[in-house]
Amino acid sequence: MTEDELRALPKAEVHVHLEGCFEPDDVAELARTAGERRLARDLASLWEWDDLAGFLHSLDRICALVRTRDQLERAAYRFCEREAASGVVYADVTLNPTHWPAWRGRLDDMVDALDRGFREAERDGLPPAGLCLSLLRGQTAAEAQELVDWILDRRHPRVVALSVDGNESAAGRTGPRLASAFEAARAAGLHRTVHAGESSGPEGVRDALDLLHAERIDHGVRAVEDEGLVAELAARRVPLGVCPHSNVALGLYPNRSSHPLDALRRAGVPVSINTDDPALFGVTLAGEYAAAAAAHGWDDGILVGLARTSLEAAFCDDDVRKDALRALDRSAAPPA
Ligand code: HPA
Ligand code: ZN
Repeated sequence: MTEDELRALPKAEVHVHLEGCFEPDDVAELARTAGERRLARDLASLWEWDDLAGFLHSLDRICALVRTRDQLERAAYRFCEREAASGVVYADVTLNPTHWPAWRGRLDDMVDALDRGFREAERDGLPPAGLCLSLLRGQTAAEAQELVDWILDRRHPRVVALSVDGNESAAGRTGPRLASAFEAARAAGLHRTVHAGESSGPEGVRDALDLLHAERIDHGVRAVEDEGLVAELAARRVPLGVCPHSNVALGLYPNRSSHPLDALRRAGVPVSINTDDPALFGVTLAGEYAAAAAAHGWDDGILVGLARTSLEAAFCDDDVRKDALRALDRSAAPPA
């Protein structure tokens, strides 16, 4: 498939952070508006990091510049434009409130402003998005419960899931500490997605399944180091939202050909391709499909299968999923 054909393939994105969707131009404007003139002149430092910790610090510095409702509304709208440009028909977008200091204690305002942007985008024919509200790995049990309580009290239709992201190698083992918050989410019927098997090994994926009741794993790639775990992910059909470029850029694997995406797929694990933080990494979702196909020598059938998995893994309404799967079948059928 050409990149144009890959773009036309109906697909979902299920692992992408709003924090990682500000282009250099957006950041320059936000910095000028915030009176951070030095930062506006020297954006390059935000695009320089050695590892996940440095990368997360860049996200903090960028999101700290977002101070107004209009800026959030615009970020949500621009997110949908970005997704549409790669042929995405639905996106689950992760939002971690700890990265946004101007909105501390104002989650209602924050989600309402984003919701306005998402609604406006949908009115303009752009794809719908669901918010996965995310904890940071280092947060306490009480902080985790506070976020879950907010979600369950408010039941905002834009919020589709509880998530956790951040740095597991810095935070240590946090599954036991966060378990009761995720259990409350599960008991209330809220979806759960968990970053694991990136800055943690297979044991992080194990805790995500057993302690956090994860329906989906963000990354999850280091599960490949445990054969029994791979077999279990395949048998239980637990989808992994894989981000190959992110894993190479943050030093987990030296290059795409040594990345375990294809090994996991061949073992029967439901894998999808995602961008994680596309503006920070300078990638597009359609480009990621093309790069993975080139690295692993995939044929069209495999690429259609990955798009199908992305739709099956999404926390969207079932009618959105059904329509998208039908459109995918039509686009994958040989011309009459
Ligand atoms: N890992 C953990 N936390 C994150 C990431 C990631 O790749 N991207 C944004 N927050
Ligand atoms: Zn991520």
